[in-house]
Amino acid sequence: MSGSFTADWLALREPYDHAARNAGLAEQLRAWAAPRATLEVVDLGAGLGSNLRWLAPRLGVVQRWRLVENDPFLVTLGTSRFPEASYVMADLHRDLEEVLSGPLDVVTSSALIDLVSRAWLERLIAIAAARGCALLIALTYDGSIELWPADPLDGLLVEWLNRHQRRDKGFGPALGPTASAVLLGLLAALEGEIRRSASPWLLTPTDAALQSALVTGWAQAATEVAPDDAEAIAGWRERRLLWITEGRSSMRVGHEDLLWLPPG
Ligand SMILES: C[S@@+](CC[C@H](N)C(=O)[O-])C[C@H]1O[C@@H](n2cnc3c(N)ncnc32)[C@H](O)[C@@H]1O
Repeated sequence: MSGSFTADWLALREPYDHAARNAGLAEQLRAWAAPRATLEVVDLGAGLGSNLRWLAPRLGVVQRWRLVENDPFLVTLGTSRFPEASYVMADLHRDLEEVLSGPLDVVTSSALIDLVSRAWLERLIAIAAARGCALLIALTYDGSIELWPADPLDGLLVEWLNRHQRRDKGFGPALGPTASAVLLGLLAALEGEIRRSASPWLLTPTDAALQSALVTGWAQAATEVAPDDAEAIAGWRERRLLWITEGRSSMRVGHEDLLWLPPG
């Protein structure tokens, strides 16, 4: 049994994540990595290894990856499907310093840091600064969702969802849509080079499976935040699911990618 991030959900989102990511940041990381004989990469909250599949072919040097994940089901499945991936089973909240204590050139994550707290992000940045490793933090949800056709409940729904995103996801109070801004603020206090880029999902009517999964999940999260409005939320979900079935629905879900290269 998987935890809250199921294997099906990770597989469904992977092609959209790959299409959304900014190749320019990977290119810049590749140039930084070029002088190294072997690049030691740690992927935090690796799931089934989507980040490795997107990033590894773009780095152009010999690499050794460690994929940190705390869901035993995802670790077992990821290892059986992708024997080249080397998993470390650990709880990032408890064990961050330990999992980053070995050889380290790059710390990366995708779709992770909106789950974490400010205190946890401060720990991560302190390690990156002390070790002089690069950070590539991809696909951080930025709180913006645009939906077509428009529905009168859209604004409130996104507000409820974004409130749900701030709930504790195992790291203390989650940063949710504020994660990118907090990350930027912490890194701006350091020397080094920062590059950011928008990496939204742009979903057209043919992307019905992902759109349906999103609408269903968002409605569930909104209902947990606003149980008194459960009936209105169910109506919103049914209208949107119908538009998806009719091939009339499009969406933009905002994310951001960020690269930090240490000084020197
Ligand atoms: C949104 S998923 C992203 C997975 C993967 N990076 C991807 O892009 O497909 C977040 C991942 O973080 C993992 N995760 C959440 N909390 C964790 C923790 N405390 N320690 C380790 N992994 C964690 C989840 O199990 C899940 O696989």
